Parts: sequence; C-alpha cells; structure tokens
Amino acid sequence: MNILVTGGAGYIGSHTCVELLNAGHNVVVLDNLCNSSEKCLDAVRSLTGKDFPFYKVDLLDYDATNRVFEENKIDSVIHFAGLKAVGESVKIPLRYYHNNITGTLNLVDIMEKHNVYNIVFSSSATVYGMPKTVPITEDFPLSTTNPYGSTKLMIENILQDVYTANNKWSITLLRYFNPIGAHKSGTMGEDPKGIPNNLLPYVAQVAVGKLEKIHVFGNDYPTVDGTGVRDYIHVVDLAIGHLKSIEIKTGESGVHIYNLGTGNGYSVLQIIHAFEKACGKTLPYQIDPRRPGDIAECYANAKKAEKELGWKAERGIDEMCEDSWRWQSTHPDGFNS
Ligand code: NAD
Ligand code: UD1
Repeated sequence: MNILVTGGAGYIGSHTCVELLNAGHNVVVLDNLCNSSEKCLDAVRSLTGKDFPFYKVDLLDYDATNRVFEENKIDSVIHFAGLKAVGESVKIPLRYYHNNITGTLNLVDIMEKHNVYNIVFSSSATVYGMPKTVPITEDFPLSTTNPYGSTKLMIENILQDVYTANNKWSITLLRYFNPIGAHKSGTMGEDPKGIPNNLLPYVAQVAVGKLEKIHVFGNDYPTVDGTGVRDYIHVVDLAIGHLKSIEIKTGESGVHIYNLGTGNGYSVLQIIHAFEKACGKTLPYQIDPRRPGDIAECYANAKKAEKELGWKAERGIDEMCEDSWRWQSTHPDGFNS
C-alpha cells in the first residue's frame, strides 16, 4: 500500500514509518518540521534500508499539499501532523485551532479531490476529559479541558460528519494513552524542544544530568501511592497499532474508534523507580502541588483493538524505560547530539 504519513518526522510518526516500511508498504512523508528534525528521517532510512519521498510542506499550504497528491499515488493517509503541547495551547489557542483544524480540513478536502477515502487519525485519551471511572472504554462520554484537547475532539466530530456525508470513507480514530520509550536501536526517540512537559522525557533528562530533579505533581490522589496513575504505552507498540489499523481497516467503510493503551496504570513514583532500574542511578525528586487540570487515574480498556485489530501492546514498563534511556543517554541533545 502507498501511505501518506503527515507528521512523519515526529516522534510517533517516525516510529510508525519504520513499522510500515518493514512490513513492505511504501511511505510518503509530509512534515513542516516545526517540531521535528529531518535527521529523524535519515534514521528511519538507515534502520529500514529503504528510501521514500519527503515533502517539507505545511498542511496550511493547500497548493503544496495538493501537489503531494498529484505527484504520488496515495491509497491511505495516517494523519499525525499537529501541535500537541497542552500548556502552550492554553496560551496560544488560535494557533492550535488554526494549525490542527485548518490543516485537517485542507487534508481531507484534498483527499476527496483525489479519491482517497482512507484515513487514520491521531486522537488522544484527552477526549475523555475527566473520566468518572477507569478503565476507559471507547463509549465513555467525551469532553475536553484545554484547546489542544478541543482540537482533537473537533477533528473527531468533523471526520464523523465527513463520513455521514459520504459513506465511501473509512475513518479510523486512534485514541492514544501515554506514549513513551524509543526504538530499540537507540537511534530514534522523543526529542522535545525546551523543558519537557510530560513526565517521561523530564525523568530522562534528570537521569542524563540536564535537569536537576523531578517535580512530582501531587501525592494526595486516591491512588496506590498518592501520585497520578497513567497508561504508558511503548511507542513501537503504538506504531504497530497503526500498521494493524491500516492493514485491517483500509477500504472498510465507517468510523472505527480504538483506544491504544496497555490497560495497565503506573504511578509517577513507580515510573521513577522503573527508570532508576533502567539507568542504574537514584533520581532526585520533590513533591510539588497538583498540576491544575490533572486527573488521578487514566488507563484504557484496550479490548476492542485486541478483538477487532488483533493488536495488543506487548512491551512492559521496564522495556519502555530501558529503551528510553538508551536513546536519551546516547543522544542527550536529541537529534542535535
Ligand atoms: P510530534 O510533535 O513529534 O509530531 C508531530 C509532527 O507534526 C511534527 O513533526 C511537526 O513538525 C508536524 N506538524 C505539526 N503541524 C504541522 C503542519 N501544519 N503541517 C505539517 N506538519 C506539521 O508529536 P507526536 O508525539 O509524534 O504526536 C503525533 C500526533 O499524535 C499528534 O497529532 C499528537 O497530538 C497526537 N498525540 C500525541 C500524544 C503524545 O503523548 N505524544 C498523545 C496523544 C495524541
Ligand atoms: C498530558 C496531557 C494530555 C496529553 C498527554 C500526552 C496535560 C494536563 N495533559 O497528559 O492532554 O494527551 O500528556 O501527551 O498536560 N507529572 C509529574 N511531573 C512532571 C510531569 C508530569 O509528576 O514533571 C505527572 C502528572 O501529574 C501525571 C503524570 O505525571 O500524573 C503524567 O503526566 P504527563 O506525562 O504530562 O501526561 P498526562 O498528564 O497524562
């Protein structure tokens, strides 16, 4: 299959390209590199021994995006491209709405123009808002607490409407839980700009000596040890989830929705201890107040993906931390190392 991967130079996109290429598919990558490096695509090429076209194109540029479809025969699209920092989205909401929503509107319009009706979209567990119970199933009520989350939910709704208007579409909405880890080779991984907002990259940068200590946001939640619990999933498992989705759902009319998580929750302190084991160091941390907007526990019921896609996360928390450490310790400054 010929697959256009928007945001393919990013963290999850690049790992997905490796899995698609290794499975014998052709990829075309479109990315404006606003949060990534072209060096990541060199890593994808050297890991797979395969070449592919890369377009440094912004989805907001309608004509340039249209040219990608004119120059390549595309069967299916995996749409990762978007801005994703929750805190930043609160500060500059219009940029988030414009980039994520307008970019998607352009993409879908151009797809229809070229008779491409298969799309897999990167949604997020953030669309469950403040879930009343865990584990979370796909039919839980949806709501959002910040502009980033709102763009995800709006795009889900837009794609539902697109399907209602034209049943030729096959739309797959993948709601990711917390992706962490890196490719086993240590040549590709998460490369956040500035000080990381998410737990794992922060812990990894403390371990490598770039940051002084971990700030644990609250230890008075009703959880196993009082700290927040999340469903961390290895980025390679997530990438394989995309491969399965595209292979099984392409051409199947409908809107298909799946949680991609492990079904297991780990607390902040459990993560810190797992990372200590992986890097062989004791990691300094202090307890800080809760982060506004955080929930106590969030983990998936991922049975639907297992039943319908034959997909299940295979990699455990120790492997996630070991792989993350291999990448971080050999690339303390990410792709600029
Ligand atoms: P990332 O920032 O590493 O990758 C996104 C890529 O999209 C980047 O390479 C960026 O340069 C590109 N991009 C952004 N706007 C673009 C535009 N207008 N035109 C072209 N390219 C553009 O992020 P990621 O972690 O790989 O996330 C991929 C997707 O998954 C995003 O949509 C994100 O919202 C979603 N998601 C991520 C997480 C997570 O924790 N990483 C969780 C849930 C959902
Ligand atoms: C965050 C986003 C969510 C997004 C997800 C994946 C918020 C409020 N939510 O979720 O929308 O889909 O990332 O990108 O930002 N923690 C610390 N110290 C830190 C960082 C985090 O203790 O320095 C704790 C948090 O309180 C939480 C856990 O670690 O309990 C995980 O945090 P994080 O990695 O930011 O992910 P989420 O909050 O799940």
